[in-house]
Amino acid sequence: MATTQEQNDRLTQVGPGTPMGNLMRRYWQPVAAAIELDVEPVRKVRFFGEDLTLYRSEAGEYGLVEDRCAHRCMSLEFGIPDAKGLRCAYHGWVYDGTGKCVEQPFEDRAFPEARYRDRIKITAYPVQELGGLLFAYFGPDPVPLLPRWDLLVRNDLDVAVEKHLLPCNWLQCMDNAADPVHFEFLHAAFGNYTLKKLGRPAGMTQARHLKIEFDVFRYGIMKRRLLEGAPEDSDEWRVGHPLIFPNLLAVGNEGTSTLQYRIPIDDTHTLQIAYRTTKREPGTEPKPITVKYSELFDEAGKLVADTIPKQDMTGWVGQGPISDRTREHLTASDKGVILYHKLLVDNMDRVARDEDPMGIIRDRAENEPMVDIRREHEGMRAFEVRYDNYFEHIRKLADIRG
Ligand code: FES
Ligand SMILES: [Fe+2]
Repeated sequence: MATTQEQNDRLTQVGPGTPMGNLMRRYWQPVAAAIELDVEPVRKVRFFGEDLTLYRSEAGEYGLVEDRCAHRCMSLEFGIPDAKGLRCAYHGWVYDGTGKCVEQPFEDRAFPEARYRDRIKITAYPVQELGGLLFAYFGPDPVPLLPRWDLLVRNDLDVAVEKHLLPCNWLQCMDNAADPVHFEFLHAAFGNYTLKKLGRPAGMTQARHLKIEFDVFRYGIMKRRLLEGAPEDSDEWRVGHPLIFPNLLAVGNEGTSTLQYRIPIDDTHTLQIAYRTTKREPGTEPKPITVKYSELFDEAGKLVADTIPKQDMTGWVGQGPISDRTREHLTASDKGVILYHKLLVDNMDRVARDEDPMGIIRDRAENEPMVDIRREHEGMRAFEVRYDNYFEHIRKLADIRG
């Protein structure tokens, strides 16, 4: 049965008060890498259709507040970090990490008894740092634990963060994560075609999928595939890797594992934060975390899909700002997408009943020291992927520290 317009709206819209917005707000979301605030400690950001200011105070505390000062609506993007929080650039009102106004320089001086500031509060969201990323929680109390996914906690990994701004709805990025079969064409056929046009050798062989399977587990959907020529006990079929509900893909192999968060900026824009890790050789010095903001389009406005991530992004952006799912024809290869949408609908219903949706962690014993993500150790081996292009791309990630 085709998706109706009403169902598509419900699945894609994330603004305040929408069912999907309410569901997504129940999960901690990464909003930046901490070292980005070394460069500029006060930054304008936008998530779930809300304009916000992310900052680090003089005391080293992180805060995320609505973008408008309650006095006369000056943007707090121009705020000054203060020991107590963030000071508005216009008349100096100060807000703490909970959004409470804690100082009004003129009023405090002229009318100290009035304590007008006690009546002023702006929207604020809690922020926590983990693994070099800053995570914010946009949902109601009680605040759940910030999941300590293994890659964020392990101390044997070097990390390169790459950020992409995508001009499309978040669900297109995640549908792709529930759709293993696209590998044959988007990465092999289209990827090789793109490389050929650039005068470069083919990136991979086009192994065909014989079977695909999806298992719902505690944190999301484990997806598995059996490829032509691969044994039944191959890692990809026996283990697979997970889509962590609702908007995270964990993929990679033993030496190079990645977390890919797809965070809605609004209904037609998504921020991807890729947290790429490389296992450090024993005895080598840890490398500092790097962050790179990558443009998807070249100077001519063209998307050149010469790497696996860019091929995926071509798939997402190529479906338009919000994919018109009323025109889709879902088939057997889309059973992961169908299952994922069902989970989204079930969990929107859970949130409407004010129950925790799937995967929310409230028990410290479950979260500490870390939550191991089961995944294949020899990811994509059967594809004989020539990762040269891909690693070359990662090696080029510039360090914006300082
Ligand atoms: S507008 Fe912010 S203090 Fe006046
Ligand atoms: Fe892909």
